[in-house]
Amino acid sequence: MARKIFIAGNWKMNKTVAEAAELLAGLKASAGRIGNVDVAVCPPYTTLAGAVAALKDTPIMVGAQNVHWAASGAYTGEVSAAMLKELAVDCVIIGHSERRQYFGETDATVNQRTKAALAAGLLPIVCVGETLAEREAGKTEQVVKTQTEAGLAGLDPAQAAIVTIAYEPVWAIGTGKTATPQMAQDVHAFLRGVLAGMFGAETAGKIRIQYGGSMKPDNAAELLAQPDIDGGLIGGASLKAEDFLAIVTSA
Ligand code: PGA
Repeated sequence: MARKIFIAGNWKMNKTVAEAAELLAGLKASAGRIGNVDVAVCPPYTTLAGAVAALKDTPIMVGAQNVHWAASGAYTGEVSAAMLKELAVDCVIIGHSERRQYFGETDATVNQRTKAALAAGLLPIVCVGETLAEREAGKTEQVVKTQTEAGLAGLDPAQAAIVTIAYEPVWAIGTGKTATPQMAQDVHAFLRGVLAGMFGAETAGKIRIQYGGSMKPDNAAELLAQPDIDGGLIGGASLKAEDFLAIVTSA
C-alpha cells in the first residue's frame, strides 16, 4: 500500500506571534503548490491558535510540540490533548530528542502521551533516534527498537496505523550532518520490521516513518526517494516558507 508522504515543520522554540505572521503568510500564499502530500507546521503553543486561523483555507495542518497525558489537573506548565483539540490542532510531536535530552522525557511518558493524543483524535508524531555515542557503539538498532516498542506499547493495530514515527538521529539534528539516504533507509527498514513484529506486516505497511535531522531543500528529494522514508520532520529549514515549501514540492 502506498503511503502518502508527510512533511512536518518543527519550529521548536522559535517565532513570537508577531514573528510568525510573515512565515504563516508565506505558507498560505504558496499552499496552492502542495500536491499529494500531507503537510503540517508545529509552532510553539503561543502561536497555535494564530496558525490555525492563518492556515484555515489551506491543506496545511497544525501541530503542537508536546501534549500531557492527563485530562486536566495539577501539572504546571503542561497542556492537555483536549486543550489542543479545542484550538483545532491536528497533530502533535511526542518524545522529540530535545525533550528526552533536556526535559527528562522517557519512553514511558512518550507512551502515555501517545495514548492520550490518540484518544483525543490527534495524530501523534513519535520521535526516536540514537545519539552519536550510541551509533558509534553499534547500538542504533537496539536504541530505536526499544524506543519504538516502549513508545507504542499497548496500542492496537488500528491506533498504530494512525501514528507517524519520526526517525531522527540525534547527531544529525541542527548540525548540518545528514544521515546518507542509505543510512537512513537502513534504519527505516529496520523500524518497519520492528513495527511488523508489534502490529503485523499489514499495519506496518501503513505506518509512516519520517526522517528528521538537517533535511533541507537540497537533500530532501534523495532522502524521500528511499522506499521506507515516508516524509520528513524539518527543524531549521521549516522556519523559512520558501525552504519548507521547496522540501514539500520535492516530495
Ligand atoms: P533540524 O531539526 O532539521 O534543524 O536538524 C529536525 C528536528 O529536530 O526535528
